[in-house]
Amino acid sequence: MKEPIKGFSKLSKAAKLEWLTQNNFENPEETLELFQGYWHNDENVQRKHDDFIENTMTNYYMPFGVAPNFQINGRLYTLPMAIEESSVVAAAAKSASYWMARGGFKTEVLSTEKIGHVHFMYEGDASALFRDFTSLELELREATKELTANMEARGGGITSIELVDKTDDLDHYYQLEVCFETCDSMGANFINSNLEEMAKRLESFAASHSELEENKLEVVMRILSNYTPKCIVRASVSCPVTDLASEGTSGEDFARKFKRAIDIANAEPYRATTHNKGIMNGIDALIIATGNDFRAVEAACHTYASKSGQYRSLTHCKVEDGIFTYWIEIPLALGVVGGLTKLHPLVVKALEMLGKPNAEELMGIVAVSGLAQNFAALRALVTTGIQKGHMKMHLMNILNQLEATAEEKVHIAEYFKDKVPHHREVVNYFCNLRGVPVPKVGS
Ligand code: HMG
Repeated sequence: MKEPIKGFSKLSKAAKLEWLTQNNFENPEETLELFQGYWHNDENVQRKHDDFIENTMTNYYMPFGVAPNFQINGRLYTLPMAIEESSVVAAAAKSASYWMARGGFKTEVLSTEKIGHVHFMYEGDASALFRDFTSLELELREATKELTANMEARGGGITSIELVDKTDDLDHYYQLEVCFETCDSMGANFINSNLEEMAKRLESFAASHSELEENKLEVVMRILSNYTPKCIVRASVSCPVTDLASEGTSGEDFARKFKRAIDIANAEPYRATTHNKGIMNGIDALIIATGNDFRAVEAACHTYASKSGQYRSLTHCKVEDGIFTYWIEIPLALGVVGGLTKLHPLVVKALEMLGKPNAEELMGIVAVSGLAQNFAALRALVTTGIQKGHMKMHLMNILNQLEATAEEKVHIAEYFKDKVPHHREVVNYFCNLRGVPVPKVGS
């Protein structure tokens, strides 16, 4: 049985690795060698990676691909994509070329505010707090003056403070809901620091208020919300329906089938979940490549997809007067300064590849990536089916699993050029080619 360890965090990296490999692996020496094999050969670069998180043992490689030919607001971009799933980058690139030939993508940032809360309970009659909110607000602004000075100089800061009665949802529950403009940063630290100052001032305001009962106000939490419905971007494409015709399918027919696929995602949460997962393929890949927080973006997008009370599609489509219009509207709280943006050498390069965008430009580019990804997936789904293209891209993974030689790979890729390379069929073909028995299912 494994023994717990106390004080692990205080050990050196070498001692941590020693403990880890000796206590968790059948072959500690081989594991140690493998882990060390993934270290960067430049010590300074490795140290940076070690310091991103805690207890770093090695690096976990993720492919960094690129999708060229994205025409966005008349400008040409190559998108950096960090993702492990085959066919995502190819799909993005294919969509990019498709829409470049039909006028390209347009983006529009609709709003840029982020939100945070001081969540607190008050067990008495809170009417005096509401009545005197103007003076409380002045105090809150005073308390955060120093913290907001630099952000204000950049054109941001606190945009609004509201006192919200949430007692219909939970007994004694109130909020300070604070909106922020954080310019080119995602703003998490800025928002949380401000909220912590405000919470202290709220408590002292209540304690010194003659009409508020003593010890009845208790701050529970002060934290930003990753749901950012006031930080919204829209990306769209549009063309005459007739321009959608391809390979024996008329434009009208394609548009009808395509729209129906979106209608289904709006009506059926099972489908909406997969539909939006496909969108996040494109969004996450770009978010990770640009050093942003994909968990925050995922959480916000999924909450936004549920804003009607049912989980629905994040993309939309209409056909009017012979014009096909297709768009995505999502919340995206992104940064191009702070966090990993200057620390991770590949993030620096990813942002340079995008022409060093500001946060609003990046919002547009990321939304386009989600829209393009959804277009590729839906186009395949309503025509050939997803497996043809997806498995074509996945073939190399299967061949690598089988440890095929370079020569075998070329031969097998040629054989499957015009066939769907289902896993079992690839294994069968590979074994026949090598003259070895086909393994039994499950072995
Ligand atoms: P194709 O028409 O067989 O590709 O499409 P092609 O060989 O004719 O090449 C056309 C273009 O595709 C290329 O142009 C590239 O842009 C791109 P070119 O560079 O030659 O001028 N392309 C590639 N780019 C890089 N490397 C490659 C490559 N191959 C083609 N090797 C393709 C093949 C996979 C693109 C197409 O079938 C497709 O878009 N399929 C959709 C794939 C997809 O959506 N994958 C996501 C993973 S599946 C999933 O998780 C989500 C899902 O469940 C979501 C949902 O249900 O909504 C599907």
